[in-house]
Amino acid sequence: MNSEETLEESPLLEVNDLVVTYQAQRGSLMKRTEYVHAVKGVSFKVQKGTTMGLVGESGSGKSTIGKAILRLAPMGGGSIHYDGQEISTLSDAAFMPYRKQIQTIFQDPYASMNPRLTIASIVAEPLLVHAPEMSKEERTNRVADLLEKVGLPADSMNRYPHQFSGGQRQRICIARALSSSPEFIICDECVSALDVSVQAQIVNLLQDIQDELGITYLFIAHDLAVVEHICDDALVMELGEIVEQGPIDELYRSPQHPYTQRLLNAVPRMPTILGAG
Ligand SMILES: Nc1ncnc2c1ncn2[C@@H]1O[C@H](COP(=O)(O)OP(=O)(O)O)[C@@H](O)[C@H]1O
Ligand SMILES: [Mg+2]
Repeated sequence: MNSEETLEESPLLEVNDLVVTYQAQRGSLMKRTEYVHAVKGVSFKVQKGTTMGLVGESGSGKSTIGKAILRLAPMGGGSIHYDGQEISTLSDAAFMPYRKQIQTIFQDPYASMNPRLTIASIVAEPLLVHAPEMSKEERTNRVADLLEKVGLPADSMNRYPHQFSGGQRQRICIARALSSSPEFIICDECVSALDVSVQAQIVNLLQDIQDELGITYLFIAHDLAVVEHICDDALVMELGEIVEQGPIDELYRSPQHPYTQRLLNAVPRMPTILGAG
């Protein structure tokens, strides 16, 4: 292997042996501590400019992995390298630049928006934190550019979240996520609540944005059909562990793990190419 090859292979995100255990207090009279082993030693790499799918049933630990990357989950072991830097042990101040680079889009856009703020204020929120030097006029121009990029009319700026459809609100969230010019976006079930036709539009939008800006995605979903269209590779999670990973077309063509086969079988339009294992 020559050094050029090694350089090319260095991933944007590298997670090694990640362990997350939640502690919860249960019981009203006899208090006891319960441990939820949400992520049990997970390792994977995401190359720059690609989309990594993270699929699995509800409760399998997908969101917890996203939260751990953003230091919002109690990490019990392992490491998270971003662009070669271990980020899980950084001080809050040292992590600040990474908060600008790593953005998230969630399933329920309405829940993540203040209903009393205009779209202009919502999209500009990250700019106030990450680019405080920007003038009001620069911010307004930036917001207008972002709204255009995500396919919303310019007059959206002075309107409020309730005046938009679910798909349009997700576009607003994408604009907000893009406002700080991130390199990496965690899309946590970001199309799961939308109608199939709207899902396709948002997935296409995310893909166009990736083509234009080279953004890297971690795309979390329980729906394999969505993942197939946007992902280069995928991780299949079951009960806190990765049971299978690989290029998306290989996973589709010859799923090795029974759990992956079950998930694929749950996709209605899949031809029955799977063995009877
Ligand atoms: N804050 C928390 N406290 C205790 N348990 C949690 C917390 N968040 C998630 N869990 C548990 O961790 C497991 C994984 O959850 P999650 O990562 O949200 O799964 P997914 O996103 O795949 O649905 C589940 O059993 C869930 O109930
Ligand atoms: Mg989740």
